[in-house]
Amino acid sequence: MSEKSIEELLKKLAAGAQLSEPEKKEMKDYKFWKTQPVPSFDETITTQGPIETKTIADISTEPLPLLKEFEWADLDINKQEDHDEVFKLLYENYVEDADSTFRFKYTKEFLDWALKPPGYRRDWHVGVRVKATGRLIGFIAGIPTDLDVRSQEIKAVEINFICVHKKLRSKRLAPILIKEVTRRVNLQGIFQALYTAGVVLPSPVSVCRYNHRPINWKKLHSVGFSYLPDGVSETQMIAKYTLRNQGKVKNLRRATLDDFEGVESLFTKFQKRYELTQKFSTDELKHWLFGDASIKNEDKVIHTFVVEDEQGKITDFFSFYLLPFTILDNKEHDELGIAYLFYYASDVAFDKEEKEGNQLLKKRLTELIGDALIIAKSLGVDVFNALTTQDNNLFLQDLKFGEGDGLLNYYLFNYRVKQIEGGLNDKNHVDYNDVSKMGVVML
Ligand SMILES: CC(C)(COP(=O)(O)OP(=O)(O)OC[C@H]1O[C@@H](n2cnc3c(N)ncnc32)[C@H](O)[C@@H]1OP(=O)(O)O)[C@@H](O)C(=O)NCCC(=O)NCCS
Repeated sequence: MSEKSIEELLKKLAAGAQLSEPEKKEMKDYKFWKTQPVPSFDETITTQGPIETKTIADISTEPLPLLKEFEWADLDINKQEDHDEVFKLLYENYVEDADSTFRFKYTKEFLDWALKPPGYRRDWHVGVRVKATGRLIGFIAGIPTDLDVRSQEIKAVEINFICVHKKLRSKRLAPILIKEVTRRVNLQGIFQALYTAGVVLPSPVSVCRYNHRPINWKKLHSVGFSYLPDGVSETQMIAKYTLRNQGKVKNLRRATLDDFEGVESLFTKFQKRYELTQKFSTDELKHWLFGDASIKNEDKVIHTFVVEDEQGKITDFFSFYLLPFTILDNKEHDELGIAYLFYYASDVAFDKEEKEGNQLLKKRLTELIGDALIIAKSLGVDVFNALTTQDNNLFLQDLKFGEGDGLLNYYLFNYRVKQIEGGLNDKNHVDYNDVSKMGVVML
């Protein structure tokens, strides 16, 4: 694989992005999005709040009409057959590289975690089937989430996993899926949404970039995922990315539900550093950081670790989730382990000695996430991804994360707010001298 195609793959891995470098069309060419309550590119935003105001009474109780060949599917992903259909649609059509070598492995555990947080609604798992065969060819999901946008609290949903079968692309099915999920969400009195995409749409509230830290460089190279730069030997590359066997952080251990209160209070305080965050209820945070407690450690999707000091106080935590790739047509390997950095917090951020530039936090996060890499390796992870969200820019370079090619755009539906720093400089590259104000990590 050429260097270019690897970068393209990483980009897709990052954001479900499209293959070509995202190009911004003119507003008038966004035939669908120009009809939606979203800010246009050239708008100077001076006020903050909803773009249009509606009430439930304004919303149709009838599903949107579909072409006669299709019908809306009432999916229940608690049912094995519905779950399998969603899995198959995403597995075969969500994102893959040009050679069809890698595919996301959305396990049952992953989909349960991603699509069934507390308060989830079955009717927000929206499917489209071919009437004649019953085959699922479209999907979009909404999950409830309350947001804090620059100190304004809004009830919202997160929209994710929009997917149309490859054979039915460019037929304007995506706008119908988006409008139908919007209608169903509106009927519950919710009029705002958060979503991300690799593609440029009107208009990002924040732009972040993915970064990749090879863990098993040899394997990444052998499956065509990482390339050997000119003038460097394989041995040098392996040596560059070799991790210590033992972590550095004292009293670091896997979190248990008994740690929850400590984690919650630390997290809530830490999240105040950012301008866009989720307002998790206790049950939601439990779900997102602890997942299904009955799942064995080696099968878990979400992995959370804490540091407990001698007084029994939780001083730090970090979490990452696993979403591997299935590798097709490779004799040696059938899976690529991929970890994504999720939420973290450390109480050094509140230290009186902490100065502008976050020197204490930089040191602490470098130690913590450095240990996360070692733990991830023990769980079979081959590459560890992190965005430029949160305070990630403080440790990316020291921990040998390489800048990815993929940008991740964050969008708010029916809400206007001034841009939120995503940790990039004016050329959209990682700003190692500054941190982002984006506190949301979406799957
Ligand atoms: C994303 C996907 C559903 C779009 O469907 P499509 O058949 O390519 O496009 P359609 O003809 O149905 O619709 C085109 C409209 O959808 C918009 N669109 C495309 N991708 C979008 C996305 N990820 N989010 C929101 N809108 C999107 C386009 O901008 C266009 O609207 P416009 O005329 O205002 O510009 C489809 O390409 C797909 O399944 N891709 C693989 C999975 C994926 O990448 N999902 C997105 C992850 S962020």
